[in-house]
Amino acid sequence: MKRIIRSPFFYVGDKYRLMPQLQQLFPRNVSTYVEPFAGGGSSFINTPAERYVVNDINFYVVELHKALSSYVGRSEELFQRLYDLIDRYGLSCSFKKSYVPSELKRKYVKTYYAHYNKEAYLQLRADFNEGHDLLILYLLLIYGFNHMIRFNSSGQFNLPVGNVDFNKNVYDAIRNYLNFMERNEVVFYNLDFAQFIDQISLDEDSYVYFDQPYLISDSEYNKNWDESEERRLCKCLDELDRKGIRFGVTNLVSHKGVSNEIFLSWAGKYFIYDISSNYISFNDNTIKKDSREVFVTNYGNAQSKTAVFLDYPKKSRKNPELYQMCLTL
Ligand SMILES: C[S@@+](CC[C@H](N)C(=O)[O-])C[C@H]1O[C@@H](n2cnc3c(N)ncnc32)[C@H](O)[C@@H]1O
Repeated sequence: MKRIIRSPFFYVGDKYRLMPQLQQLFPRNVSTYVEPFAGGGSSFINTPAERYVVNDINFYVVELHKALSSYVGRSEELFQRLYDLIDRYGLSCSFKKSYVPSELKRKYVKTYYAHYNKEAYLQLRADFNEGHDLLILYLLLIYGFNHMIRFNSSGQFNLPVGNVDFNKNVYDAIRNYLNFMERNEVVFYNLDFAQFIDQISLDEDSYVYFDQPYLISDSEYNKNWDESEERRLCKCLDELDRKGIRFGVTNLVSHKGVSNEIFLSWAGKYFIYDISSNYISFNDNTIKKDSREVFVTNYGNAQSKTAVFLDYPKKSRKNPELYQMCLTL
């Protein structure tokens, strides 16, 4: 199995932890790997393919990808620019061994980064809202609460400071991301998923992986995802199936006593795999053991038969009874 690398976005809801499972269920021999909901990119940077065509509706997410990838072959320049900004604003940087003073650590045992960086972060945020510099936005993501990208209705970045700083994980993630970008051809789009699918050309060697916002969970990017979006997604997937294009889609189908009936009733005609999810709630960061996350495909995958994490084997496409029975296991 290929080593899983972390995306430098540390994106909420990313598929980093699930990639070892998903890798076994993704098809081999993918020419064009397509991702309509790419987010921080954890999925595409961990999937072998000849080329990548990826999209996200969030303008700044796509701009950040483009900005970071523009430093391919110039990683030292990117790091120097980031360190210069960190120094200029007076942020802590554990990777460069500029540590938070020990008296602050004693006083705020669990939140000393947030206390130390708060003023500098607010200045950084004000300057981003003024000048829209993308490297400043990247540092806001690194030092911000839960590494989120959040704007208010007037278009101002408004996330508070987080309890994190630029550490070795961030450094390694940037390096790995730039290595990936150097070795691969990646094209970015910034469209709604259905428009994106309509615009690109796909054939039987393409593979489309969907990681849309989960209808029954909370997160910043779920704000506009409702039942009609979920139905639009199902329609788009059926259309791909009709054209003979392979797809895979992850979803949370039960969580905190709520189930996603739209998706469940749609998925019955395809192949459904349980994936062992450490579903982490955006609001309370606790692991929800009652949650059920699934991966649905319109193609079979021989390797999955031996995958130990599956709760039950591949379903027959035309066997809704078997599917219903497995749902109650
Ligand atoms: C679960 S996240 C994707 C995470 C990604 N797979 C990763 O590992 O980082 C869902 C993404 O869908 C995007 N999104 C929401 N609505 C969309 C739409 N209508 N079309 C395209 N992207 C959308 C959000 O901006 C968000 O980045």
